[in-house]
Amino acid sequence: EGQFSIIGELKNIFKKSLIKSYPKSNDFNIKMVISSPSKSGDYQCDSAMGLSKILKESGTKVSPAEVAKTLIKNIPANRIIEALSIGDPGFINITLSQKFVVRQIASMFLEGVRPPKVDKKRVVIDFSSPNIAKEMHVGHLRSTIIGDSLARLLEYLGHDVVRLNHVGDWGTPFGMLLAHLNDKYPDYLNNPLPIGDLQAFYKKSKKRFDEDAEFKKRAYAVVVELQAHNPDQTKRWQLIWYTPRKEFQKIYDRLDIKLTERGESFYQDSMKKIIEDLKQKNLLVYEEGRYVMVPQKENLNPLTVVKSDGGYTYDTSDNAALCHRLEVEKADWIIYVTDRGQSSHFESLFDCVERAGYIDKNRVRIDNVSFGVVLGENKKRLKIRSGDTIRLVDILDEGIKKSMDKPIKKNRERILSPEELEQARTSVAYGCIKYADLSNNRKGDYVFSFDKMLEDEGNTAVYMLYQYTRTQSIARLANVEPNQLLNYAKNEDIKIEHPNEIKLAKEILKFYDVIQKITEDLVLHPLCEYLYKIATAFSEFYDSCYCVEKDRKTGEVIKVYMHRLLLCEVTANILAKCFDILGIKPVNRM
Ligand code: ARG
Repeated sequence: EGQFSIIGELKNIFKKSLIKSYPKSNDFNIKMVISSPSKSGDYQCDSAMGLSKILKESGTKVSPAEVAKTLIKNIPANRIIEALSIGDPGFINITLSQKFVVRQIASMFLEGVRPPKVDKKRVVIDFSSPNIAKEMHVGHLRSTIIGDSLARLLEYLGHDVVRLNHVGDWGTPFGMLLAHLNDKYPDYLNNPLPIGDLQAFYKKSKKRFDEDAEFKKRAYAVVVELQAHNPDQTKRWQLIWYTPRKEFQKIYDRLDIKLTERGESFYQDSMKKIIEDLKQKNLLVYEEGRYVMVPQKENLNPLTVVKSDGGYTYDTSDNAALCHRLEVEKADWIIYVTDRGQSSHFESLFDCVERAGYIDKNRVRIDNVSFGVVLGENKKRLKIRSGDTIRLVDILDEGIKKSMDKPIKKNRERILSPEELEQARTSVAYGCIKYADLSNNRKGDYVFSFDKMLEDEGNTAVYMLYQYTRTQSIARLANVEPNQLLNYAKNEDIKIEHPNEIKLAKEILKFYDVIQKITEDLVLHPLCEYLYKIATAFSEFYDSCYCVEKDRKTGEVIKVYMHRLLLCEVTANILAKCFDILGIKPVNRM
């Protein structure tokens, strides 16, 4: 039977009718949407109005209502649609067949929530990518969370995904750090003191860099030395580098995020080659001592590929990285997850690599998935008092602390085992941080508020996680043999009748429409909205439809409603699948 996007399938059916009804307009794009709750029907086809207009232009006058009628008449036999009706002026309301809905639900139980069919692609996704000299801060939290979730989505769809951490481990910030280090600890190589607070150390070197022209010159010179593989500088660089890398890894481990580190420094040798190639292709312009590359499109900033002191830049390494991803990684889809501030950098980059003939945009899809800034509750850029950006570790620690305040009530300690309690805490803490980010449209700024994200009602992780535990407690209570439910699901005449059963089932079936949309747009908030609708529909179902009936006096289970148990299991499956894509780990009890 298979599982698929209902909108996609309805479009196919309507397309057939279109070809039969109006063969000359067979390339007309069928418009199909999910009906708003106030409308009759589950889906709505909005094409009759547009078609009527087109027909009129070509000399045939038919009203939208007539077009709708004709379309309905020519709908081929199918197993999806139960009823069709026309609303003013020519909307076609579609109601799904109950039998079809039940079979889809059963299939989601029997086969699991299977991914839809896609053309398998090799995807390189560049995310997180903090700068080592500076500490990983809250801005990188967004890139890390959004990038990981998109990677999970693409992995679920069956793509071959390479997750790259393009860390900033090169360039001017390292020049500053090393120049400062050379002054402060000339013997660092033989006596490598741990620089406890690298961020403070970096700040001091940055201050010198900004104020002291002589120091600035030396910092730039160090970069050039590094790029020329000067062994002493390289060793110092590696030593400095060691601690922050370990700290990043701790954060990725806590959030269960897998990344392959391939920072800017990885491309140092290929940068040279690219510059030669660009020179040969006559694509570099010499401008005030720098070599720049000018994009084809007007109004885009040129890329600086070689600075006046001969040093390379962020632009140079990104050029080299992109070529590596195309040539060596053989990517046919490349995604960069960065803050909005870098959009123009990527526009220029994408334009320039096309100009240089490195990429064929007809064959390779390339996206800069950008996001807004994280705001504090005062709606200003999130900062702690001293004006520093907040460190990521502190946020994770705070989440763990706060998870016990409300979502996991104190008395839980008596009910849950210590392991269960620990699992619930990390699930809630990291889940709520991820969910708060992902449930906001990434394109906007978002307000970071622990109080809001830990609320147990509304579109929050806690509410979703809680509904999931309910599905699990029903399953425990019903205590039905897995085989019994399996056999039941294969049964041809399962009936769902209660409005809240039907509502929940139909809500579940929208999964593939949502997956399609979020894959096209590379956004995750529609998945969270979907999750919220499922959780709400499940909660209504839970309140009105008993899955298990207990004897009032003895509390013993006297009846299990199998069709409801089935719905409950599929709800759990779908919730788990969504959690999985969002990088959230549900628990059975909390
Ligand atoms: N290191 C950069 C930052 O912290 C992000 C790098 C994004 N990836 C890239 N290939 N430019 O903002």
